Amino acid sequence: MIYSQDSYLPFEAEVIEFIQDADDIFTLRLQFVDAQLRQQYQFYPGQFNMIYLYGVGEVAISIVNDRGFQQDIFEHTIQVVGRVTKGMAKLKQGDRIGIRGPFGSCWPIEAAKDKHVVIITGGLGNAPLVAATEAILKNYQNYRSIYIIQGVRHASGLIYQEKYTRWHNSPHAKVIITATQGQPFGPWQWYNGFVTSAIDDLDIDYQETIVMSVGPEIMMKNVAQSFIQKGTPVEQIFISLERSMKCAIGHCGHCQLGKEFVCKDGPVYAYSMVQQLLEIQGA
Ligand SMILES: Cc1cc2nc3c(=O)[nH]c(=O)nc-3n(C[C@H](O)[C@H](O)[C@H](O)COP(=O)(O)OP(=O)(O)OC[C@H]3O[C@@H](n4cnc5c(N)ncnc54)[C@H](O)[C@@H]3O)c2cc1C
Ligand code: FES
Repeated sequence: MIYSQDSYLPFEAEVIEFIQDADDIFTLRLQFVDAQLRQQYQFYPGQFNMIYLYGVGEVAISIVNDRGFQQDIFEHTIQVVGRVTKGMAKLKQGDRIGIRGPFGSCWPIEAAKDKHVVIITGGLGNAPLVAATEAILKNYQNYRSIYIIQGVRHASGLIYQEKYTRWHNSPHAKVIITATQGQPFGPWQWYNGFVTSAIDDLDIDYQETIVMSVGPEIMMKNVAQSFIQKGTPVEQIFISLERSMKCAIGHCGHCQLGKEFVCKDGPVYAYSMVQQLLEIQGA
């Protein structure tokens, strides 16, 4: 069987592990039931799956892990928002769900070679950048420097602490955490405030930097503006957009932003591609 991303038909996957990351955030570790599909399934960092909770509905969720680590298991970190994600929060080991994907564009890991890389995220925006972070760190020698910056509202709300500790312990990356509330903790550098407060002090040539950012749209706009002011070319700033999705294959138009179909042209965009559209939307 060849895995087809044009299909509306979900493939069955089993919950191998359910991890409660925070009160309203959990991670599903999944494995396809079909052994051949497990081998064939491939994705690029930044892509997403449509996850179907049988009888309830289907939602777009980014793929978290770098499959290099554990070949046939893939992970999704999910925040409880509404009907479908509330239902998914009740899943347990051994339950089955449907998966379509992977869909969408990916992070510019190749284009970032020989540049400084700043991965700058807010809230659960770190989930879509875990796979890219792992891939970049694995080939650290290809990059001039690697900064990993995460902003949280409250210091206690930092998920993936094990990953941030591992990245912090790497001699090839610098981790910075910013929080607007709570006491700093952990071994990494802390800033009180928004993620943008960390941008001024980076030891990089801003013109030779690739920025990858995910978070609330207002955060991504502010991050982009800060880097543009520092001299980073707008086409070197990349963000990932969230829009309501149904088909995920460019047919239904639910995800449209201007002429862009976020499900297939995105979700990862060079900021230069969407800057105007986002400004009109926000106006
Ligand atoms: C490419 C992509 C990747 C995503 N990755 C993740 C991820 O890794 N983890 C995660 O937790 N969530 C992710 N999301 C968001 C996730 O798809 C929504 O939270 C989910 O669809 C909500 O479904 P629901 O039935 O629980 O809530 P609903 O009952 O559908 O919605 C509750 C509220 O959220 C709003 N909403 C629903 N979907 C979206 C959306 N896509 N964008 C903005 N507002 C929305 C609705 O308008 C409504 O107000 C991603 C979305 C996209 C498009
Ligand atoms: S979700 Fe249907 S066109 Fe994008």
